[in-house]
Amino acid sequence: MDKIIPLSIPGAELRFLEPTPANAAELFNVIDANREYIAPWRNSTTVKKIGRSADALSALEKYKTEWNERSKFTYWIFFDGKLVGNAQLENLNFEHGSGNIGYWLAADYTGRGIATSAIAALEKIAFVELGLSRLEIRLSPGNERSENLALRAGYVYEGTARQDYLSTYNNTRNDSKVFSKLKSEYKG
Ligand SMILES: CC(C)(COP(=O)(O)OP(=O)(O)OC[C@H]1O[C@@H](n2cnc3c(N)ncnc32)[C@H](O)[C@@H]1OP(=O)(O)O)[C@@H](O)C(=O)NCCC(=O)NCCS
Repeated sequence: MDKIIPLSIPGAELRFLEPTPANAAELFNVIDANREYIAPWRNSTTVKKIGRSADALSALEKYKTEWNERSKFTYWIFFDGKLVGNAQLENLNFEHGSGNIGYWLAADYTGRGIATSAIAALEKIAFVELGLSRLEIRLSPGNERSENLALRAGYVYEGTARQDYLSTYNNTRNDSKVFSKLKSEYKG
């Protein structure tokens, strides 16, 4: 599994981050500056739990463990050398050949196609390298940017999973709109 992957948007790449104090500080800073932009939509323990730099270090350690166990692959999106977002392959199930894609961007880096290019890179890993047959994107009703992104990337809306998760943002049971792409639909 490559730890640095160039994206199709010039200046953008995915990187695995080692759990170092410097990386943790950079992660904390981008999350802290974008907390209210990301948190309502991304049920991310990272955003919820990272209240200080030490939390970011613990999160990076956990992501490294998950990476080594091949249970979740967490990449960080860089643009011109700056950490600007997150892209993950999660809920991996190699028996059933399935997984989910998760993502967020710092608000200032939206609108440039960076998330679209990150999804394309994760699809290549999932379908080509890992041999998965199904990828899912789950998003909250009302998350128009994420829904546009999923549709633009060619994901098919399957329906709404009712109250399928407890939101870390407002502690309510939220619905998810479920989108998927099959390997047979992957255009490379
Ligand atoms: C979801 C999220 C990542 C979408 O960001 P985004 O900027 O819309 O997505 P992209 O980076 O792919 O950029 C797409 C935009 O760039 C434009 N664009 C410019 N160049 C482009 C290119 N080469 N390729 C694709 N799009 C391009 C597109 O037209 C689109 O603009 P539009 O929104 O005006 O239609 C972002 O809104 C976010 O982080 N939200 C908060 C957290 C969140 O919701 N996470 C997902 C939970 S399910």
